[in-house]
Amino acid sequence: MRIFELDGRLSVCADFVRHDSRLADIGTDHALLPVWLLLNNKIKSAVACDINELPLNSGRECVEKYSLTDKVDLRLSDGLTNVKENEADDIVIAGMGGELIAKILDDCKWIKSHNKHLVLQPMTKYEKLTEYLYNNGFEIDCQKACYADKKYYTVMSVYFSGNDKEYEYSDLFFGKLDTDDDFSKAFLRSTVNHLKKRALGDKTLDKTIEKIEAVIK
Ligand SMILES: C[S@@+](CC[C@H](N)C(=O)[O-])C[C@H]1O[C@@H](n2cnc3c(N)ncnc32)[C@H](O)[C@@H]1O
Repeated sequence: MRIFELDGRLSVCADFVRHDSRLADIGTDHALLPVWLLLNNKIKSAVACDINELPLNSGRECVEKYSLTDKVDLRLSDGLTNVKENEADDIVIAGMGGELIAKILDDCKWIKSHNKHLVLQPMTKYEKLTEYLYNNGFEIDCQKACYADKKYYTVMSVYFSGNDKEYEYSDLFFGKLDTDDDFSKAFLRSTVNHLKKRALGDKTLDKTIEKIEAVIK
């Protein structure tokens, strides 16, 4: 059977997942990511979770279609609530708002572990997620921008170090993006456009906008 392609957003998530890891995919929906990673022999197994029955059913269809029922454990779970610490090495939380991703991490008692690797893909308010990470001992070791569905997104590879980070507000928008990369520049340009709308009612954002524009000009 022909293997499907992932879009630009999920491709970067897949690139960040470590070889031979056991994956937890939180908010799995269609389960495309765990299925693709298994078909490409990148991971050993997956716990694919969703808070809603309907998306979990579409995930089940995908898992059955590719005969991976022995490798993927589909599970109803609010965030990581129904995932045990010893079940996953790499945890992907993709396709949700930055604040919801931060809440899911904050609600999980075992996530602050040096052995766990997080792959986080916020759809909105990524600076709020970066702020949560920096204030809670997490470190972004790599961050990329990507393009899918006519929009730019970012994906972060994150480990727990236990060290809080000092930062300025504008740092939350740069994270670990390589500002020489064309995708990063385009992503930051879309961020600036969004911030300019917010700045109409909040002049304190002007300095941040200037700083980002100075880097991507
Ligand atoms: C837009 S889809 C993203 C699917 C896939 N992860 C991706 O990036 O393409 C978001 C999914 O997250 C699920 N979700 C929302 N809140 C959740 C939570 N607290 N815990 C687990 N899943 C959640 C939704 O039901 C939905 O299926």
